[in-house]
Amino acid sequence: MIDMQPHRLTHLAAGRLVALLALVCLAGCARSQTDDGSVAWSPPPDSAIPMDSLGAAIRRGQAIMRNTPDSLPEFALSSLNCTSCHLADARQVGAAPLLGVVARFPKFLDRVGAVIPVEDRINYCMTRSLAGLRLPTHSREMQDMVAYLAFLSRGLPVGSAPDSLGIPAIPAMEGDSARGHAVYATTCAACHGLDGEGGVVPRAPALWGARSFSIGASMARIEVAAAFVRHNMPLSQPGSLTDQQAWDVAAYLNRQPRPDMPAKEQDWPLGGAPAGVPYNTVGHESTDSRLLLPRVSPERAVVPPPEPARQGGR
Ligand code: HEC
Ligand code: HEC
Repeated sequence: MIDMQPHRLTHLAAGRLVALLALVCLAGCARSQTDDGSVAWSPPPDSAIPMDSLGAAIRRGQAIMRNTPDSLPEFALSSLNCTSCHLADARQVGAAPLLGVVARFPKFLDRVGAVIPVEDRINYCMTRSLAGLRLPTHSREMQDMVAYLAFLSRGLPVGSAPDSLGIPAIPAMEGDSARGHAVYATTCAACHGLDGEGGVVPRAPALWGARSFSIGASMARIEVAAAFVRHNMPLSQPGSLTDQQAWDVAAYLNRQPRPDMPAKEQDWPLGGAPAGVPYNTVGHESTDSRLLLPRVSPERAVVPPPEPARQGGR
């Protein structure tokens, strides 16, 4: 029996712990019952990637997520990699970790109003968070990313989830974009550039402009950006901003132009959009007015929802 909370381990600098985890997985007990009956689970370390064809696919998927525009130049049109937000190979708690994600799909997504497979969910990030084009579901590259995500889900029962998902919310506050501009200049521009274009240091992605995430990305919601920044930025000293500074800098980012998202008004078709969604949807009126940049191939930037049920089957 393992008496610890293994999915918190990403917090700890941990040669010894990684070695311990490897042992845990070698012993085939990545999952165990704790005293209170809940399931303790730890994602396998990279050293557990098998040395076979599946292992090769898992490694390719991990490489694509780390270097997305380089790997998929015709599809990933922004400066962002998957791991620009899903930090530390999608293992970082507090940065929307994708640990166990394959055990949570297919899943009902209220933004689509339908049950969707994990490939469609990946394409939502391709088209919205990367402001790119959807990747064919049966492509080698899509299946490689699914292989990596399935690896990050090993040992977790289908339908269950670790308790450290998403980007933990921070207390609600009013952001001030003028103060945010000052925070940006002193704390962010050294890596992301004064003009938000990124690339001042290797891997720093654009925060606005034509090569940033689109208006349809979750990160374009002020409360999501504030929470992400509060927990993870500046990358050199995460956690050093106050909640207020995180809201201010998110308000500043919010005022900048970014790529449009075709068909965004069809999101949340059943209503219930979160307050910070920066465009109008059913029953939700946004006060946001942003400069939106046009998209290349707008039709390929949309993930079509599942087709309606067919009648007359026997
Ligand atoms: C601009 C930031 C950003 C980028 C870049 C990004 N994502 Fe995401 N992704 C998010 C956010 C935010 C969520 C929502 C997290 C949540 O609500 O738990 C998310 C959710 C997901 C989910 C669903 C997680 C779940 O538990 O339901 C998957 C799968 C995913 N992303 C895969 C990818 C892949 C693959 C890429 C690269 C092609 C990518 N993402 C790029 C921000 C991003
Ligand atoms: C030391 C360099 C550095 C500093 C300083 C820094 N960042 Fe980042 N930021 C990065 C890197 C690098 C990434 C991508 C992470 C990766 O690839 O591992 C990133 C990712 C991001 C992302 C998610 C990806 C995207 O393009 O939206 C946001 C949002 C962000 N940073 C905002 C900020 C803000 C706001 C500040 C200032 C409070 C800041 N960063 C300070 C280096 C930095």
